[in-house]
Amino acid sequence: MKHLCLMLGVLLCTCLGVHRENFRTCSQSGFCKRQRNMEPGTSSYVVQPSTLRISSSSLMVEVLNTKNNIRFLLQGYGLQHGIFRVKLAEAEALRERYEIPVGLTLVAEPVQEELKYHGEKDGKLTFSLGQNKMVINVNPLRLDFLINDEPVTSLNAQGLLKFEHSRTKEGWFSSLGSSVFSLLSQPFREAKDEGAGEESEGEQKEEGEEVKAEEEEEPDMWEETFKGFTDSKPNGPVSVGLDIAFPGFRYVYGIPEHADTFALKTTKNTDPYRLYNLDVFEYELNSPMALYGHIPFMAAHNEKNTVGVFFQNAAEGWVDIHSNVADKSVFSNLADFVTGNNEVPQTDTHWFFEDGIIDIFVLLGPGPRDIFKQYASLTGNTPLPPLWSLAYHQCRWNYNDQDDVRNVDQTMDKFDIPFDVIWLDIEHTDSKKYFTWDGSRFSNSIEMLRNLSSKGRRMVTIVDPHLKREDGYRVYSDARDKGLLVKNKDGNDFDGWCWPGSSSWPDFMEKHVRDWWADQFALDKYVGTADNLFVWNDMNEPSVFNAPEITFPKDVKHLSGRENREVHNLFGKLVHDATFDGLLKRSNYQERPFVLTRAFFAGSQRTSAVWTGDNMGEWSHLKMTVPMMLSLNLAGIHFSGADVGGFFKNPDNELLTRWYQAGVFQPFFRAHAHIDTKRREPYLLPEAYMVVAREAIKKRYTYLPFWYQLFHESETTGMPVMRAIWMEYPKETNVFAMDDEYLLGDAILVKPVVDQGQTDIAVYFPGENTVWYDIDTYKTYPGRQEANVEAPLSKLPAFQRGGSIVPRKMRGRRAASLMYNDPFTLIVCLDKQGKAGGQLYFDDYHSYGYRNGQYALTELSFHNFKLENSVKFKGEGFTTKEWLERVVVAGVNTEPKKIHLVKPDGTKMELGHTYDAQSKVLTIRKPGVNVAEKWIINLH
Ligand code: NOJ
Repeated sequence: MKHLCLMLGVLLCTCLGVHRENFRTCSQSGFCKRQRNMEPGTSSYVVQPSTLRISSSSLMVEVLNTKNNIRFLLQGYGLQHGIFRVKLAEAEALRERYEIPVGLTLVAEPVQEELKYHGEKDGKLTFSLGQNKMVINVNPLRLDFLINDEPVTSLNAQGLLKFEHSRTKEGWFSSLGSSVFSLLSQPFREAKDEGAGEESEGEQKEEGEEVKAEEEEEPDMWEETFKGFTDSKPNGPVSVGLDIAFPGFRYVYGIPEHADTFALKTTKNTDPYRLYNLDVFEYELNSPMALYGHIPFMAAHNEKNTVGVFFQNAAEGWVDIHSNVADKSVFSNLADFVTGNNEVPQTDTHWFFEDGIIDIFVLLGPGPRDIFKQYASLTGNTPLPPLWSLAYHQCRWNYNDQDDVRNVDQTMDKFDIPFDVIWLDIEHTDSKKYFTWDGSRFSNSIEMLRNLSSKGRRMVTIVDPHLKREDGYRVYSDARDKGLLVKNKDGNDFDGWCWPGSSSWPDFMEKHVRDWWADQFALDKYVGTADNLFVWNDMNEPSVFNAPEITFPKDVKHLSGRENREVHNLFGKLVHDATFDGLLKRSNYQERPFVLTRAFFAGSQRTSAVWTGDNMGEWSHLKMTVPMMLSLNLAGIHFSGADVGGFFKNPDNELLTRWYQAGVFQPFFRAHAHIDTKRREPYLLPEAYMVVAREAIKKRYTYLPFWYQLFHESETTGMPVMRAIWMEYPKETNVFAMDDEYLLGDAILVKPVVDQGQTDIAVYFPGENTVWYDIDTYKTYPGRQEANVEAPLSKLPAFQRGGSIVPRKMRGRRAASLMYNDPFTLIVCLDKQGKAGGQLYFDDYHSYGYRNGQYALTELSFHNFKLENSVKFKGEGFTTKEWLERVVVAGVNTEPKKIHLVKPDGTKMELGHTYDAQSKVLTIRKPGVNVAEKWIINLH
């Protein structure tokens, strides 16, 4: 194993490529096998309508598994924005199943809305929530969700629901009734509506009647061994699973993180997509294997509707995907409404988790914007990052010492390459003890930080969650003495291997432990740091080199007594949440923190940026960055990126240069490299390449106002910053599976060059009646067609939509924080009617002042040869020095004779301009007016 090689100091380990054998396949996992082997057919779960209780926004009804007489409680809720929530759990369980507390994934208790009960008819209970309906079929249990009476999502239509009820190894019959967790005592009124109370077929079983075994007991239900590791499974089989169908949908997306296409593939001939946070060394592409983080959110899109499901469960999960179009096997015995022929596309998915309950949010769109708003209403938004964090980051494992840092900093300046942040990896610490410095290499970290700060720059250091088990290491002994560490199954502090050797992990599942961790970032605790130092959490899946699948054994115990099996995918998120809190506290809640994480879960966007881990310096990995980031963006993780250049291997000059270009238009822009690789700071490239890479990085800086604008939109609307084309052009069926080009916001179309030796590239331009402008030459391309675009090495193919206004800042600076007061250039690209529109957002670019109204928002519109800026909001006392330096208007057919500026005070001023008749570009010079004020520019 590579990690072990590294620990032993053997840096050039011969093992190359993913070690699949380290990770379970579905057939090596007991619950995955049991769930996957379910055959479609009539479900044995039957609703007991006589038990129906309803409130104004929810319902509760018993469900009986007629195979074994186990009773369940089905709860349904109507939530704001058109979301249904469905929960299913055992009515009387021997053990309370883990339900993720509100505040961890859900940002708050979801707001309920009126759920209208229409009574029972023909064995169906119908509820409506605005235009949407939920129809519960009684026998067997099935739930159909309809938008304007059209079915779009269905639960248990294939009858794959399987809820492994609680039992004891000795035989659960005898113990049942002794100590059970009952869900049946909640205050609900009886549903007296028509039909309620009729008995259904499955209802004959009396309470207490003998319980039948649902299935043969299998040996791996109570103990499972993988690669010599035995999982003790004290609770036996506890998995939950069911099928979710999307009638009418050919494509589904999401459930990151996988190194695979954006439109998810059928898993007919592969393993299901796995959702289990793991440190997968040298991961392979086009694979459903698990990676570092996971989000159980999936969206389905067709010309008419966009819907989503969020399955809130933190245990290991797997998702099978079948499509009657893709694998031509209609095994779906779906609802009555599906004709059964292959002409109606349908995607059938099958989800199963090792533990927990069934807790599904059905997001009924009906459009792309709606599902993003809905998902954000559940798991929260990406808070506006500090501007500098959207700039270029220079990282490597490792910058060796403070001289190395100084040298990189100075050489970047010498070559006139801007950057904002230099990063230190694990070697900067004293023997991998986080929150310390290796004193021989970083004897004066404060001075180093001050030097960076004097240039407006910052540093990020790595802080991993494993603590070296060494008595003299304060952080570890403090955690140990306070009893904060994760336990092994016998109740002793869990001891596993990571970078420092023998290590233990604080139990981030506990709030008081997270608070303790947050305190470690105080400047007087994390000695040798300053407020321009930010943090990177790595290995937080967590990675444990000597444990099964390189992570916690499943029977490791958290302080609550819960096994890691129940909460695994949530752990990494709570690490970066606590780090975020630490940075917040450090600044007395004034400054926006920056944290980067490798492991993540639903809701991670609230506190962290995410990168896609250890990719490779290969063209195929560069290509994969786009689908991976689109999936992350779909699932709420907007601030995401991939290691520029690839982590492993040495990319050649062309690949590295192309990667820089691609990174310019990806949200998180950081170059990083493995310790074994050759140094590859951009200035080390041969001149011809260096110049191109430098131009690319500089281009990023000129677009920082646009990025900032996008993140403002993300925070306020939940819209991804990086969008698949269907998100803006939902009716163009040919783009539904497209993942080699994408949009930034609704304004910029990007098609990175990801193939060696390429000098031109086919670009599809979406939008009937839309025109697109090359961002460098303003050459135009009509929408709804493909065109071949020249793309020599110096060219990064990107296009601005006619009808949009994009803000830029064109003065070259060495760091973003030096640009705060710089003047704007507005790029106005006219549509076919000669119109364009956009917004400008301003604040102080680093603090939380904007949350107290310290910001301004203006609306820009160009029509009738007039560009108008109107102030939508300006907080009391808010001012900005930013002014308008230049306006570029593309698509102007005739040169105006005169141009006037109407200033905020109403006075007029004539403005100079140039006009290029060939490219039809008008450049208006130096309006000089404050950008956050009302003004008009008239073209005569
Ligand atoms: C694994 C991370 O993915 C990588 O980025 C980092 O350089 C190494 N750990 C060492 O910390």
